Amino acid sequence: MSSEQEGGQKTAGFEPVAPAKGKLGVMVIGLGAVATTMIAGVEAVRRGLAKPIGSLTQMGTIRLGKRTDAKSPLIREFVPLADLNDVVFTGWDIFEDNVYESAAHAKVLDEKTLLQLKPYLETIKPLPAVFDQYYVKRLHGTHVKTGKTKRDLANQVIADIQAFQKTVDRVVVIWCGSTEIFLKPTAVHETLAAFEAGLDNSDIGIAPSQIYAYAALSLGVPFANGAPNLTVDAPALVELSKKNSAPICGKDFKTGQTFMKTVLAPAFKARMLGVSGWFSTNILGNRDGEVLDDPESFKTKEESKLGSLEYIFQPELYPDLYKDLYHKIRINYYPPRGDDKEAWDNIDIFGWLGYPMQLKVNFLCRDSILAAPIALDLVLFLDLAKRTPSLKGIGIQEWLSFYLKAPQTAPGLYPEHDLFIQLMKLKNTLRHIMGQDLITHLGLEYYD
Ligand SMILES: NC(=O)c1ccc[n+]([C@@H]2O[C@H](COP(=O)([O-])OP(=O)(O)OC[C@H]3O[C@@H](n4cnc5c(N)ncnc54)[C@H](O)[C@@H]3O)[C@@H](O)[C@H]2O)c1
Repeated sequence: MSSEQEGGQKTAGFEPVAPAKGKLGVMVIGLGAVATTMIAGVEAVRRGLAKPIGSLTQMGTIRLGKRTDAKSPLIREFVPLADLNDVVFTGWDIFEDNVYESAAHAKVLDEKTLLQLKPYLETIKPLPAVFDQYYVKRLHGTHVKTGKTKRDLANQVIADIQAFQKTVDRVVVIWCGSTEIFLKPTAVHETLAAFEAGLDNSDIGIAPSQIYAYAALSLGVPFANGAPNLTVDAPALVELSKKNSAPICGKDFKTGQTFMKTVLAPAFKARMLGVSGWFSTNILGNRDGEVLDDPESFKTKEESKLGSLEYIFQPELYPDLYKDLYHKIRINYYPPRGDDKEAWDNIDIFGWLGYPMQLKVNFLCRDSILAAPIALDLVLFLDLAKRTPSLKGIGIQEWLSFYLKAPQTAPGLYPEHDLFIQLMKLKNTLRHIMGQDLITHLGLEYYD
């Protein structure tokens, strides 16, 4: 039997990935809890003060070849990722606080850690933001750009990115800003031409996050979205991403409750256990929780969180098991907990002959501690995609769905939410771009 069995197909005629030479500039939109925890964390790791726990790019390994080959290098040694020592941060925010002040306000990291990092964190000061309270009702921005039209604002962001590009070798932009109100795609999002006309006449359908995204993609700069906003999930911006070889991915960091859902739901489905109800509730007291207390921002989050179960369970294929599933999600703003989110899930399942059972999950997590390594990994992998001949021109990087509550796909494809399928897809993509055998887990050759 050939090594094709578990090793899978050999990838033919691959073009090599360009090396990660020089500095990688990371421009973060929204220097709040997640962003400052990522930036402070990267600096702590660089100084040897802590380990990058939770980051697949920094700690993960990848198996190559057969199980008997015993070859599992670190991912960061297998693919040419930017070294953390070469990462340079800057960003935008609607408040003037530098990263130290903002991190102190967010209270995710303890004072001792922050004081050690203070001289560095103080040097990162936000650029004025593109902001309009219509899109985030609970915030009053004071450090914002002014312009006659949305085109004018986009040009100012383009100028910000270009100025930063002069100081580094490559740039990635990531949205870690607040959740905007729920927006449905309209005619202005259909084509790039319509979107550009919309910038000229300040169409209400174009949110600030899309102005940043447009600016980045116009310059061929990869763009990630940590929030559930529409942002690049619109044909016009997908078109721009492809046109300028600027990779994009899905939206909304998959951290607490949805992360657990995309682990548990595939397990029930794998064993053909039915689910009649899934009630999820959260208490959260940080600024994100405050923003999500507004029904219009919550609606955006709710839509993003609801999708995963529907796609994993495929009720159209398994009506006896999932057709009547009642799925409810609540997020309650509760200031005393700050960034320490508590999530409860009550899951009503049923087994053999329909006998009911229950599962309760109580996850006491730290929101930004879970999100920071995801933000970092997305930045590093998007930069890798931009240097990869077979990936940079395709627009949507579906292999990064692993990190996101709402994966983005080519039109007509359903998104894959199962965490372990997503991980397999991610690792096979890395094997593929490095010209290695894909791993199918067939493994019959061991029994020859
Ligand atoms: N922490 C998690 O586990 C997690 C998971 C999934 C998604 N998210 C999303 O990530 C985003 C960031 O979360 P957070 O906890 O850091 O929130 P946060 O409120 O602490 O930070 C958001 C920051 O964005 C700034 N901001 C808002 N609008 C802006 C704009 N137009 N331009 C520039 N800056 C802007 C705010 O001033 C604030 O500093 C939120 O949308 C949240 O829903 C977080």
